[in-house]
Amino acid sequence: MIHDGNLFFVIFILASYIIKPSSSCPFLIPKWTISINNQLDDDVVVHIVSTDHDLGNHTITSGSDYQWTFCEKIFATSHFHGYFWKGKKQQSLALADRKIMDLCRSEYSIGSVCYWVVMSDEFYVSPTNEPFPSGWEKKKSW
Ligand SMILES: *[C@@H]1O[C@H](CO)[C@@H](O)[C@H](O)[C@H]1NC(C)=O
Repeated sequence: MIHDGNLFFVIFILASYIIKPSSSCPFLIPKWTISINNQLDDDVVVHIVSTDHDLGNHTITSGSDYQWTFCEKIFATSHFHGYFWKGKKQQSLALADRKIMDLCRSEYSIGSVCYWVVMSDEFYVSPTNEPFPSGWEKKKSW
């Protein structure tokens, strides 16, 4: 049985989730930032989509970053997928899903950051953004 007070709390959380902008998340809901750094000599284009959002196409110039934030879903897994182009080459991979979020999840705070770096041959992810290769995990090749 759900106690009335608890039920109210659950409804409050759900309502907050719907109305709050992604810059602030409801109480106890982890806020995620996903950052992509382009280490190529050229631009890379990325089209980012999730189960409920299309973030569209973004051109990340050499050496720069693109990042976005979202609130973790309560009853489902957030999933963001990236479709990348460098020149005529194309690749796609999960940028945030259960496995990746487990890798990047912060033990000491309610918010977490997941860092991606696009290299000429591979895509790497890290929870800490330390100097390469410390803490970086290779996820896919071009
Ligand atoms: C996104 O960019 C790619 C690569 O330049 C292009 O092929 C694609 O049509 C673009 N999609 C949209 C919706 O603009």
